[in-house]
Amino acid sequence: MLERQIYVDYNATTPLRDEVKAAMIADLEVYGNASSLHAAGRLAHARVEEARNAVGTLLGVPPRDIIFTSGGSESNNTVFQTMRRLGSGPDGRVLPEGRTELITTAIEHPCVLNSAEFLKTLGFKVSFLPVDEYGTVKLDALKAALNERTLLVSVMMANNEIGTIQDIKEISQLVKAAGAWMHTDAVQAVGKIPVNAVDLGVDYLTMSAHKIYGPKGIGALYVRKGAPLFPLIQGGHQEDGFRAGTYNNIGILGFGKAATLAVKEVDRYGRELGVLRNRLRDGFIERIPHIKINGHPVDVLPNTLNVSFPGAEGEAILLSMDMQGIEASTGSACASGSLEPSHVLLAIGVGPELAHGSIRFSLGWGVTTEEVDYIIETVVPIIARLRAMSTLAS
Ligand SMILES: Cc1ncc(COP(=O)(O)O)c(C=O)c1O
Repeated sequence: MLERQIYVDYNATTPLRDEVKAAMIADLEVYGNASSLHAAGRLAHARVEEARNAVGTLLGVPPRDIIFTSGGSESNNTVFQTMRRLGSGPDGRVLPEGRTELITTAIEHPCVLNSAEFLKTLGFKVSFLPVDEYGTVKLDALKAALNERTLLVSVMMANNEIGTIQDIKEISQLVKAAGAWMHTDAVQAVGKIPVNAVDLGVDYLTMSAHKIYGPKGIGALYVRKGAPLFPLIQGGHQEDGFRAGTYNNIGILGFGKAATLAVKEVDRYGRELGVLRNRLRDGFIERIPHIKINGHPVDVLPNTLNVSFPGAEGEAILLSMDMQGIEASTGSACASGSLEPSHVLLAIGVGPELAHGSIRFSLGWGVTTEEVDYIIETVVPIIARLRAMSTLAS
């Protein structure tokens, strides 16, 4: 057993909060099917609706506009598949006239990128907007791409790898003026910064419970009243027919509890984690030469720090940190056995080599000042050693 375990991978997932865990354990007794009319069903149904209220409050929207899904991936797929239905005729072919163009960005999560790529194979036109060196979407490119055939614009609110936050309100205004539907994947933003879907002016917003100290496998899609939606999963009448399947009422209850906590704590979360993140960043800058901080300097998630360490390889840094009890992640994803550099880092102009030497530290509740100092003290010699080894090897 390692003496210590410092988890700084909260953008990957969060542990269940004690309060969430306790509420879920208590709810294990609630066995009814939330669609049944008898007392057991009514009790389960009441719990589902309480959670819907809590999630609605977190997003500043009426609870009736919240649809429970299995998570962020499903919510995003539902939006893209809805667009597929809107842009296709009864024979399934893309309509020759009308709105069949989609716009998204080069830095989205794979569940958006791959949904967009899939629609492309069906004949939809898809534009992937470029971002600047900080990961901010280029609004000029958006303006140039928008036209009377644009069906959907999907821009993530905050990036999972580098934390850059987009001006979704401004983007929504441009999109709505062009008569298109506006979606934002707010999975990484919710709980870390205030998010009000009505104020943002979006038609669809995606979120996921396991990023806000709730359980895995449950999430939500906000659908503004009047925005079209087709179910991804056909079946019973759950969620007004928009998402079939017996309610995961224990997951939903945990999600609701996590949402209630997030409403109360979001400001403190940003403040306290921002201080710790800056301490980590400044410690690295002071102690390790030639590093590059990735992401926007100001419009960035308070808990996220993405650093490139030239001359050191990401997986080696990660393993060395893990051996000393620090759990972070690389900026690069391991795709089908081959190490692909992060598409996000490439999009902000970080070269493939540097992208391979990048680490994401994402902080969360429970990380202490002392742990941040331990991370700095541990990473400084790791980078020095790896750099010395790579110099020897070359
Ligand atoms: C930005 C973003 N969107 C979507 C997802 C997918 O969410 P889920 O794991 O709930 O499917 C993630 C998870 O990593 C994410 O970071």
